[in-house]
Amino acid sequence: MVIKICMGSSCHLKGSYEVVEKIKEMNLEGVKLYGSLCFGKCANGINIEIDGVLISSVTPDNVKEKIEKFLKEGN
Ligand code: FES
Repeated sequence: MVIKICMGSSCHLKGSYEVVEKIKEMNLEGVKLYGSLCFGKCANGINIEIDGVLISSVTPDNVKEKIEKFLKEGN
């Protein structure tokens, strides 16, 4: 699984670095984490992409929930 986290200025200001830390805490096996340039959806940030699926409105507080939902439902 590949997770890309937007490191563009808008998502960065909303806390994308903290999102990275939270994902690392999850100790997900076989996950590759990458930073990404702006996804062009700044108003809906923080944005992350999991295996090519864009997931918006991510926060440091809800990122675990969002990833678990993706693993269960694929979106
Ligand atoms: S800064 Fe993240 S989508 Fe633009």
